[in-house]
Amino acid sequence: MNIVLLGPPGSGKGTQAKMIAEKYGVVHISTGDILRENVRNGTPLGVEAKKFMEAGKLVPDSLLIDIIKDRLAKDDVKGGWMLDGYPRTMPQAEAMDKILPNLGQKIDVVLNIDVPDEELVKRVTGRRMCKCGTTYHVQFNPPKTEGKCDACGADLYQRADDTEETVKERLQAYHAQTQPLIDYYDKRGIVVTVIGVGDIKEIFGKVAVALDKI
Ligand code: AP5
Ligand code: MG
Ligand code: ZN
Repeated sequence: MNIVLLGPPGSGKGTQAKMIAEKYGVVHISTGDILRENVRNGTPLGVEAKKFMEAGKLVPDSLLIDIIKDRLAKDDVKGGWMLDGYPRTMPQAEAMDKILPNLGQKIDVVLNIDVPDEELVKRVTGRRMCKCGTTYHVQFNPPKTEGKCDACGADLYQRADDTEETVKERLQAYHAQTQPLIDYYDKRGIVVTVIGVGDIKEIFGKVAVALDKI
């Protein structure tokens, strides 16, 4: 099964993705994580992407299309993938439509996680991350010991773009550039929308009901 996750910043894409990957055995590909790793390692891509990310703007399409083309051609994703954070613009979606047939792949479902803007700012500014990939929230999903990861014990940190001002920019980018993709895929009848407000495990329950039908 090949899944595209759509949803605004802080809607719970990463949180749900971890559970979806475990249950359905798909490979989780987060373009945000790939970019952040490049920023940390100071690669040419990371240096270029950093200025956009810290301003809450989308990184140029050409860079993202190259990342995805390479990643989807790797052997480990042949059994199914889940894209978290790609596509995010019309040119990225159109590029996917050219890349996938060449790889003998298609999108089976677009899972759209719907959360109102006013909820998102609190979520993003209270988020804490671990280098092992686990995500917490100081209020909504706190670790057992403050500041430490339950899974691996490492110190938690905040993302550089998780400030209130940057979140507002990211939300704007979402509404202007990403939201139109819901319509684009809806015309193909492959969009499933799940309301992403409420208990994390209950939301996953709704996601699983939807994915079990695919
Ligand atoms: P990316 O890393 O993809 O960030 P994003 O889309 O802004 O989404 P987030 O990761 O912030 O949110 P999420 O939906 O994963 O939520 P999470 O599960 O963590 O991209 C970052 C940047 O990279 C972009 O701004 C852009 O610059 C660049 N980029 C990446 N891809 C690109 C592309 N294709 N093109 C161009 N540029 C690109 O949850 C959030 C918080 O809420 C957590 O604290 C969590 O614990 C909590 N939470 C989760 N679910 C719930 C719930 N149900 N109730 C309460 N709290 C909850
Ligand atoms: Mg994420
Ligand atoms: Zn950890």
